[in-house]
Amino acid sequence: MSVATHALKAGEVARVSGPARIEVVDGEILLVGNIYGRGSNLVVHELRSYSLKALVETTLRVSLGSGGFFGVVDPSTEVIDDWLRVAEVISEDFNLVRKLKVVVVGPPESGKTTLTAFIANYLRGRGLNCCIIEGDVGQEDLATPATIALAVVDKPFIWQRELSFSEFRFVGCISPRNCSSRIIASTVDLVNQALFRGCDAVIVNTDGWVSGRDGVSYKLELIRWVKPTHLVVLDSNLSDLMVKVFREMIKIIRAKPPIQPRIRSREERQRLRSEAYKKYFMNSSVKTLRASKVGLIGMSPLNCVEIPASKLAEMFPELSSIATHIIRACRDEKELALLIKSPPHIGLLETLRNEIYLKYSIKLFVSSVEDLVRCLVGVVGDNMNEVAAGIIEDVRFEEDDILIKLRTPHEGLIKGLISSNIRLDEEYREVRRGE
Ligand SMILES: Nc1ncnc2c1ncn2[C@@H]1O[C@H](COP(=O)(O)OP(=O)(O)OP(=O)(O)O)[C@@H](O)[C@H]1O
Ligand SMILES: [Mg+2]
Repeated sequence: MSVATHALKAGEVARVSGPARIEVVDGEILLVGNIYGRGSNLVVHELRSYSLKALVETTLRVSLGSGGFFGVVDPSTEVIDDWLRVAEVISEDFNLVRKLKVVVVGPPESGKTTLTAFIANYLRGRGLNCCIIEGDVGQEDLATPATIALAVVDKPFIWQRELSFSEFRFVGCISPRNCSSRIIASTVDLVNQALFRGCDAVIVNTDGWVSGRDGVSYKLELIRWVKPTHLVVLDSNLSDLMVKVFREMIKIIRAKPPIQPRIRSREERQRLRSEAYKKYFMNSSVKTLRASKVGLIGMSPLNCVEIPASKLAEMFPELSSIATHIIRACRDEKELALLIKSPPHIGLLETLRNEIYLKYSIKLFVSSVEDLVRCLVGVVGDNMNEVAAGIIEDVRFEEDDILIKLRTPHEGLIKGLISSNIRLDEEYREVRRGE
């Protein structure tokens, strides 16, 4: 670790990359929309970097860990003044609008998360009761990944991970491609919650899926349903498109992306998610639930109406070779779902799938009990609201019921579970799910 003292003139801009600790020895700096004076201590995570501006003559003591960086940079290449302009425009509009709904969009690594924090800090500094919604399921910094969370901004912060969420909606996947409608519904629901709780301003951070026809139409739908007062766009092509579509409806503000963002690798992003799951489940315990007493949302074949074994053999004699493995079977016109003890040979499954499809035009889906264990689920409490997330630790089949052992920090009533396509190993790393 290296420690150095830096003197900055008023107006000078520096860039800091973590791991770093900054102590304001004297003076005042602007960092992520907030002003920090003498005695402030700030920690920059190893995977984050920021620019800061000295507002008066300032002395900083900077400790850098391995890979950290601190240096004075050319202010014209930095985005801090541009972001300040964006925050000022929004703040001034509060006098007209009274309830601000701001959505921040842009491609990956364009600064959405940091600009969201910047605007929130700035508005809070102007006395507004500010809330943020983290709408990026893959990089969820407030609650656990696969959720969309709401936090009241009750203190200055650099990174959303420093805040506590007040509630979240469970989306159940970490890529918006697989769950765009759940993301839109959750975001709209939480924006309404934030306004209901008396927030003057709600700032919504979004994921970076903005390219291709699907990405664009998903983002347009999200915006259409949230109905923001302000749309902040961190990319010039994207802002041209947004202006074309929403010009007459929303105030669109272009913002500059940082020129040298701290790009995170796939592995680093996974590591950040593991840290978030781990933190979330730190104070959890295991509860036993009866499937007959909780609603299972999307957890086929646990929640379906079962076909008795004798009837299954009659309907599909092809399955005789795996009959002893089958725990449950359910079917509708198009699909047959089987839950089996342990996965049979993959070649055998493939043959059965083809045979059944050719003969009955029915798709065969097979999952094993192993596929259910360590799956992330949403926990539903009263009023159909998600009160927590959970991890299925075990599933036991009794004569007339199914026992589910669930790890969750939630201590109250559990009325239902919501499925996800995420499985975690003991170290909270995401592992592939079966079917
Ligand atoms: N002014 C800046 N100068 C340099 N780097 C910055 C600046 N602002 C933010 N960064 C860094 O750039 C990276 C990307 O920023 P950020 O996470 O805000 O972008 P994002 O659009 O939310 O990314 P993602 O698409 O992954 O969610 C982060 O590591 C962040 O710390
Ligand atoms: Mg982000």
